[in-house]
Amino acid sequence: MIARADRLVDANPLLKGSPYVGYVYSYPHKTAYRPLDPPVALGPLWAGERRDSLFLYLHIPFCGMRCGYCNLFTRAKPAEAQVSGYLDAMRRQAARVRSAIPDATFARFAMGGGTPTYLGLSELESALDVAERTMGADLSQIPGSVEVSPGTADVEKLGLLRERGIDRISIGIETFDEAEAAAVSRPQKTTAVERALETIKRSGAPTLNIDLIYGLPGQSVASWLRSIRAALRFAPEELYLYPLYVRPLTALGRSQREWDDLRLACYREARDLLRAEGYAQVSMRMFRAPHAPEDRGPVYRCQEDGMIGLGCGARSYTSGLHHGSEYAVGGRSIRAILDDYIARPDHAFDLADFGCSLGEDDRRRRYVIQSLLSGEGLDRLGYLTRFGTDPLDDLPELADLPGLGLAVDAADRLALTDAGLERSDAIGPWLYSDRVRRLMEEYAWR
Ligand SMILES: C[S@@+](CC[C@H](N)C(=O)[O-])C[C@H]1O[C@@H](n2cnc3c(N)ncnc32)[C@H](O)[C@@H]1O
Ligand code: SF4
Repeated sequence: MIARADRLVDANPLLKGSPYVGYVYSYPHKTAYRPLDPPVALGPLWAGERRDSLFLYLHIPFCGMRCGYCNLFTRAKPAEAQVSGYLDAMRRQAARVRSAIPDATFARFAMGGGTPTYLGLSELESALDVAERTMGADLSQIPGSVEVSPGTADVEKLGLLRERGIDRISIGIETFDEAEAAAVSRPQKTTAVERALETIKRSGAPTLNIDLIYGLPGQSVASWLRSIRAALRFAPEELYLYPLYVRPLTALGRSQREWDDLRLACYREARDLLRAEGYAQVSMRMFRAPHAPEDRGPVYRCQEDGMIGLGCGARSYTSGLHHGSEYAVGGRSIRAILDDYIARPDHAFDLADFGCSLGEDDRRRRYVIQSLLSGEGLDRLGYLTRFGTDPLDDLPELADLPGLGLAVDAADRLALTDAGLERSDAIGPWLYSDRVRRLMEEYAWR
């Protein structure tokens, strides 16, 4: 007879439900953001925060195409006037933010999107100027990352990025199989992909990251492994392997197409292959090569240090408030949000008017989620020093994880096992507060 405890383990939704509940890119999720009434002035908001090791993020919401799976805040082939109006608004926003937080110093920089290299060379230069001249980030001294796509990674733009101190280039490849890419409305020639990767290598970028997606329509475990091996030929310092999520309002989400869900099988095979190649697994999605350079520059801990995000679609994090612009996936809504951003008068950038506050409970949950889902695990003493309590007292459900085989608790560190890592996207949402879960459920997709 099966003991009751075993039956409980067997029935646990963390083990029996889908491993793909939600990607916890950040907590609270942007679908938990709402208009802030009243808006919050940035100066007083940041006055009580540490401002000496911040993350500066610039969002470029433009692309050459709109891929069928993508729900990021971006639009394809914008009119040139919108691009120039956008860069001007971002510079105006930066100037106001800088005067509200004049002593902010930065430990990290990233420019993402969208596709920052969709910008022309001089536009890309002015976006970097916003970071360096207006915000005062010294890109030659801190780690900096820029996202590129195969169609936009040319010699001139990569040369500029290298010259300006960008040391990590992250490229979305998704698949080396042309038919798989075409099936998700991402027309992509393998020869162009290989040319872009060679250009990045030749630019001397110390870190090349390649994004790949598994679970694509028409993909098999064998074709997935072929894509990974094709990526390995370029010796990337980092690989991000994303399970496909079909999200509302994307082309795939509207198609209601069904296909075999091979994601877990793809994940396991890829993990084993990369480990055999010497790559270390940093999180469910991230793998780092043995030849990857040591992290340089000031220490930045995402659990503790804040972020200033500029541009539409970017988010800013203080300990008690996360804020940004409105979020949308549908083309018409994105256009309207962009138009509103571009038309903003300068003084409107002094205020945070859309976001999500974090009470004591959500601050603690955020720390736990971010620590646990990264390879470093949850350091119980670090948590105690920060919050004055033991995380297992604050979130007693954490004690279930070792019993389910999803984590080990050793030397005051709770760390996910292999079984836990592959269920990161179930464990993260399981730790959401009721409040954040309710806000996310009530979000109206647009
Ligand atoms: C900003 S893009 C990367 C750079 C560039 N825009 C490109 O596509 O080449 C961010 C990455 O998120 C991942 N991604 C976006 N939507 C996804 C989804 N629905 N499911 C899985 N991965 C997704 C893709 O791997 C994509 O490369
Ligand atoms: S995956 Fe990249 S290129 Fe495609 S729409 Fe999303 S951000 Fe743009």
